[in-house]
Amino acid sequence: MSASAPGEAAAPSGIRFDRVTVAYGGTVVLDRLDLTVEPGEVMALLGPSGSGKTTALRAVAGFVRPAAGRVFLGGRDVTDLPPHQRGIGMVVQSYALFPHLKVKDNVAFGLKAHRTPKAEIPGRVTEALELVGMAAYADRHPRELSGGQQQRVAIARALAIRPGVLLLDEPLSALDARLRSGMLAELARLHRELPDVSILYVTHDQVEALTLADRIAVMDRSRLQDCGTPEELYRRPRTEFTASFVGNANLLPVTVTGDGTVDLDGRPLAVPTDTAAPGASATLCVRPHLVGLGDGPNALTGSVTEVQWRGSTHRVHADVDGHRVLADLRELREPPAIGDPVTLHFATEDAVLLPAGAEDPARANDTAGVGP
Ligand SMILES: Nc1ncnc2c1ncn2[C@@H]1O[C@H](COP(=O)(O)OP(=O)(O)OP(=O)(O)O)[C@@H](O)[C@H]1O
Ligand SMILES: [Mg+2]
Repeated sequence: MSASAPGEAAAPSGIRFDRVTVAYGGTVVLDRLDLTVEPGEVMALLGPSGSGKTTALRAVAGFVRPAAGRVFLGGRDVTDLPPHQRGIGMVVQSYALFPHLKVKDNVAFGLKAHRTPKAEIPGRVTEALELVGMAAYADRHPRELSGGQQQRVAIARALAIRPGVLLLDEPLSALDARLRSGMLAELARLHRELPDVSILYVTHDQVEALTLADRIAVMDRSRLQDCGTPEELYRRPRTEFTASFVGNANLLPVTVTGDGTVDLDGRPLAVPTDTAAPGASATLCVRPHLVGLGDGPNALTGSVTEVQWRGSTHRVHADVDGHRVLADLRELREPPAIGDPVTLHFATEDAVLLPAGAEDPARANDTAGVGP
């Protein structure tokens, strides 16, 4: 499958939000979003429910008009263009298939609207349906399909027009776990076959974001909090929210005591302090897999509160003066028992200092769980 058929103009690729603000009834739900998705890039928009992800997508599609700011597609300002003139494919949370049309006619619908030559349509429909494993269902009506199958038809319909920009709003949320991982692999393969298409992929599932995305834009409370490659966000989160939403994090309240030193309840620790001034309160972030067992630099002594076997690692939970510290330990011959004293340590370069949290800790716990 090529990005565009012979004779068909390539659809514009690349998205730019320029301080896009959206308000409903005076309430701002998207606050001055600045974000660029490069041609051919997969950008995940990751964030909790209500953070403004769907709103951002609808602003690109043209279904919602920004109160301020501009939207660009392929370098062209499309803020004033109606949705059907933007050349994008979109898959929404609800399937939105036409109930009276067969599967193949649902997929053909967008092609007809795009004036694809009639003779090409059946081949393009089959190709799109094959991509999502639905070719055998071409003659059924949506009501004769499961929810997951309907969503796959919706994906086929969005792809059939070979858009330059593909907007996916939680496209896998209706699929069961096995289909979901199959579809993730399909989407990744599809992206390799369509290297010029920009994909903006809305999800609140960090595994989907980490698997598919070249970069992740983290949204919270109507605002972009952070943006970077999965590795950058994981290694160098800028906020507590990112640290806990992308992967797991040990977050410890410290005070900066000097150049390269902080204090955790009277324990001196050596960490990079280039982001904070002496005397400042800060949050120390260390990823659980970078915490080692035994004595070493930055030793933390406490007691074991829980041990979980996770296949390739043991996750040891320790209580260090009332702070929970997680360590993901590999090749542990004799895991410690609950109640055992334990010493953990981490290297200076593996620690990141974050601005002291305005975050609600209960919320951070809700989102912790999966990821590297
Ligand atoms: N048509 C609308 N009228 C009024 N408020 C709206 C409308 N659409 C969305 N909102 C509000 O805007 C905020 C952001 O909604 P949005 O749908 O963008 O969130 P989301 O990040 O996609 O969440 P979810 O993960 O639940 O889909 C929410 O508080 C929501 O209630
Ligand atoms: Mg949404």
